[in-house]
Amino acid sequence: MTRKLPQPVEDRLAALFDVAFNKDDTPPSPSALIELAADADVLVSTLADRLDDEFFNAAGDRLKLVANFGAGVDHINVAAANARDIVVTNTPSVLTEDAADMAMALIVAVPRRLVEGVRALEQGEFRGWAPTWMLGHRVRGKKLGIIGLGRVGEAIARRARAFGLSIHYHNRHPINPHIEDELEATYWDSLDQMLAHVDIVSVNCRHTPATFHLLSRRRLELLQPHAYVVNISRGEIIDEAALADLIEAGRIAGAGLDVYERGWPSEKLLKAPNVVLLPHMASATIETRIEMGERVIINIKMFADGHKPADRVILGIDADQ
Ligand code: DGY
Repeated sequence: MTRKLPQPVEDRLAALFDVAFNKDDTPPSPSALIELAADADVLVSTLADRLDDEFFNAAGDRLKLVANFGAGVDHINVAAANARDIVVTNTPSVLTEDAADMAMALIVAVPRRLVEGVRALEQGEFRGWAPTWMLGHRVRGKKLGIIGLGRVGEAIARRARAFGLSIHYHNRHPINPHIEDELEATYWDSLDQMLAHVDIVSVNCRHTPATFHLLSRRRLELLQPHAYVVNISRGEIIDEAALADLIEAGRIAGAGLDVYERGWPSEKLLKAPNVVLLPHMASATIETRIEMGERVIINIKMFADGHKPADRVILGIDADQ
C-alpha cells in the first residue's frame, strides 16, 4: 500500500491478504516505491505515485499487479508494465456522480462569485444588502461546452441541464444518438469552433500525450471574454500559465479548478482574480473512497483467483473517469 486508505477498506484488505500498510500515510519517495514493489506481488498505488519506465525496470520480478486506487492512470506507464507482464487495474465509474457534483458546484460558484462572497463576509466587508454589490452572472441559459463527454462528462451534462444550461461537446466521435437526443447535446467536431461559441468550458477528457495542453494558449484565446473554464480532470490538459495570464488580462472571465499542471496551483493562479481553486477533492467523499477501495479489493481478488480483473486497463481503449 503506497498510502493509507479508509479504515473499512484497510480492515477488509487485512482480512483477505498479507498487507504492508502505510500507517502514517507518508507519500513514498521513488526509491521507497521501488523497495515496496520489490517485496510485493501487488502494489496498491495512487495518482501521487510516479510509476514510470524506470520504476518498472527497477521493481524486480515479483510484482504482478498494480491495483491503482483511482480512475486516472496517467501516472503509470501501462505499456512498460504490460511489457513486463504486470497487469494494471483502476477504479472507474464509482467516482462519477461525486466528481460531477463538484464540477457542477464550480460551474455555479465561479460566475456567482460564491467564494468571493464568503471571503468578503469573513473579512468584514459586508455592510448589508445593496442593489449593486457582489453581482455575478446568471448560469441559466448559458452554453456549456464539455471536452470529453464520457461518464463524468455525461453526469455533468445531466446536472447542467437541470440548471438550464444547453449542452455542447467535443469528442473524437459523437456519442450514442439516444443520449445525445436526451441531453439535447450539440456535437462539435472542431474543438476550436466549440470554444469560440460557448460560455463555460468543462474539461473532462483523460490526460494522455495527445491531450497535454489541449487547451493551449492559442485555444484559450479563442474563448469569449465572458467565458469561464472548469477543470476537474487533470491539470496538464490546460496550459495553466496561459490561463492565468488571460484571466489576469480580462481575456477570460474566470476559472474553477480542482487540478493543476504541477499538482498544486502556481503562485500566479493563486493571485488571479475570479478563480475558485480546490485541492483535488472532486472525488473526496467517504462513500466514493470506500467504493474505490472495494474496486481495488475486487480487482486483487479476481487476479489472485486467476481471473482477468474487471478493471484491467487496456491500452488504446478509452476509459474515462
Ligand atoms: C482519479 O481517480 O483519478 C481522480 O482524479 C481522483 O480524484
